[in-house]
Amino acid sequence: MKTRKILLSEDEMPRQWYNILADIKMNPPLGPDGPITPDMLAPVFPMNLIEQEVSTERWIDIPEEVLRVLSIWRPSPLIRAFELEKALDTPARIYYKYEGVSPPGSHKPNTAVAQAYYNKEFGIKRLTTETGAGQWGSALAFACSQFGLECKVWMVRISFDQKPYRKAMMSTWGAQCVASPSTETQAGRGVLEMDPDTPGSLGIAISEAVEAAVTDESGETRYSLGSVLNHVMLHQTIIGLEAKKQLEKVNEYPDIVIGCAGGGSNFAGLAFPFAHDKINGKDVEIYPVEPEACPTLTRAPFAYDHGDFAKMTPLLPMHSLGHTFVPPPLHAGGLRYHGMAPTVSQLVSEGIMEAKAVGQLATYKAGILLARTEGVIPAPETNHALACVIDEAKKAKEEGKEKVILFNYSGHGLIDLAAYEKYLSGQLEDITVDEDAMVESQKVLEEYPKPELLKSR
Ligand SMILES: Cc1ncc(COP(=O)(O)O)c(C=O)c1O
Repeated sequence: MKTRKILLSEDEMPRQWYNILADIKMNPPLGPDGPITPDMLAPVFPMNLIEQEVSTERWIDIPEEVLRVLSIWRPSPLIRAFELEKALDTPARIYYKYEGVSPPGSHKPNTAVAQAYYNKEFGIKRLTTETGAGQWGSALAFACSQFGLECKVWMVRISFDQKPYRKAMMSTWGAQCVASPSTETQAGRGVLEMDPDTPGSLGIAISEAVEAAVTDESGETRYSLGSVLNHVMLHQTIIGLEAKKQLEKVNEYPDIVIGCAGGGSNFAGLAFPFAHDKINGKDVEIYPVEPEACPTLTRAPFAYDHGDFAKMTPLLPMHSLGHTFVPPPLHAGGLRYHGMAPTVSQLVSEGIMEAKAVGQLATYKAGILLARTEGVIPAPETNHALACVIDEAKKAKEEGKEKVILFNYSGHGLIDLAAYEKYLSGQLEDITVDEDAMVESQKVLEEYPKPELLKSR
């Protein structure tokens, strides 16, 4: 029998994260008076995480306590998709890193556990956050329960309504979850006044969660972000580091690395260890994949913009549709973000990675094919990566090339079945972006400085 699952023992779990800031040049985040300093972030994040955010050390030790919790599900399996390959009749060898095995069902707890640990170490009692599809909120709820922290989650209204079981998961782990925009914050009330029926957006939910953290007078509350920031990408690199070891076991190295990109974290987690190799001369294609309806990397400029609607975050150098952009209500809620991780944006702007965009229907078609071949039902976000994998596997067939394709199975779709049901009954449509709204929301970018076009190699 051919080996399907390539496994690592717990002893083989990486003991350090890879920090791409050691290998690339970055524009600094900006405050009103120029580059921001770590102390300016102190009301929002604990100082130990701020230090990680700005660190340029290439390798950072993973604390024992973090490894202990990660070992509940890590190392995650690397799976050869034999049945998918057969269905596509492709000479490509397709591998996926199965992040759906974590308790909340996605890659998100890789950073949630680390962030809960560092907050606890710093003496913080309570974390606030936002969530799109609910995966991040449930990951932080899980991590907080492991470290005895309180947790409150603002969930984007459209997902709150579409995915009631995510809220139930958060409650099960002891967290509180409210729909965003809410009446509990000034930011939320402001949005509701303008548009009481808004589906919400990640940008709005971030404003609410940050506001709740910084206005808590006890000083014991901080905010936690599930994507975009450097320390989040750092914590996720355990995915790519494991995948590399697993591929080595079967004497493989990928020609193409693919991940879906919302804020960039699962993609970066898988891709950055390979980007490190590429910066050092290795030949590997790296593709972040996003929805056509929220085309941050493929159609928005590399610019300075705020990470949230109410402009509470510093200006970040990133691809951005403009912080007022409210993406259409596509079902991959985790990919409805106006911005992108500055590190991913930098690498795309330099041409080290090449972004792709796919339509909603193609993603569900891909998800159904995986379910009917490999058996697993992926999250709608993951289906974006998968649609690109299928395109590349077909290309390999046309060209008669034995390409090795590695992709991140960022989460399972077992709480997203309502969307699958809609697709299967023909009720799901390709969603197009509102071109006028996109032009309008990008006008804000003209007010900000332009990032420099830096070259890392
Ligand atoms: C399963 C899954 N994949 C991908 C994403 C996108 O986020 P990121 O780009 O940070 O990995 C999300 C976000 O919620 C998610 O839940």
